Amino acid sequence: MFNRLIELFYFRKKTPMINLILFGPPGSGKGTQAAKLAEKYNLIHISTGDLFRYEMGNNTPLGMKAKEYIAKGELVPDSITVGMLENKLDKHPKAAGFILDGFPRTIAQSEALDQIFNKKNMAVSKLIALDVAEEELVTRLKGRAKTSGRADDADEGIIRNRIKVYHEETSPVFDYYDKQDLSHKINGVGTVEDIFSRLCESIDALS
Ligand code: C5P
Ligand code: MG
Repeated sequence: MFNRLIELFYFRKKTPMINLILFGPPGSGKGTQAAKLAEKYNLIHISTGDLFRYEMGNNTPLGMKAKEYIAKGELVPDSITVGMLENKLDKHPKAAGFILDGFPRTIAQSEALDQIFNKKNMAVSKLIALDVAEEELVTRLKGRAKTSGRADDADEGIIRNRIKVYHEETSPVFDYYDKQDLSHKINGVGTVEDIFSRLCESIDALS
């Protein structure tokens, strides 16, 4: 029993959980990079946007509620988004870590995440922000509209509103984690592989 405890203790020390927030405006490449990072570091990728799209696709009550906001490029109310995120975390009690893509998007969501993580004895390891200029974001999202099938990518007015909401409600999340010395901004322009290398460098600096 005692040996087992020691073993567990060392195991935990050797493999600390990595919980990343991949941050940045719409079109900055979070989804693309999160999928690659999840594979390399064996993390569970949680995209709240994808979760909403799944619910909308199945016409669930949650999906229908979310659609009212997403169609306009606005944020779904915090209580809905936080509840959905917590449910998803609960489904992976044995995960080596998580990569959160598109969450938290408000200070209230950040505070809720801290509380949820505290309850689970988890912590945010780092927030990495992908830095991309506004006009580049608009060009990328309009291009993505051709294949994403997303109504919120297909209209420039909605795209611009999503970016505006990002500046007003989401960008303070960077400062929230920066105050805890957890935020790191990297250049989000370049090839997918260039940006991936920059992200890996930032993550490898954790250990
Ligand atoms: O992250 P993604 O860009 O896929 O999100 C698509 C839309 O889902 C956002 O524009 C927003 O309307 C909604 N969303 C939200 N709160 C989140 C994540 C996504 O309201 N935390
Ligand atoms: Mg995305």
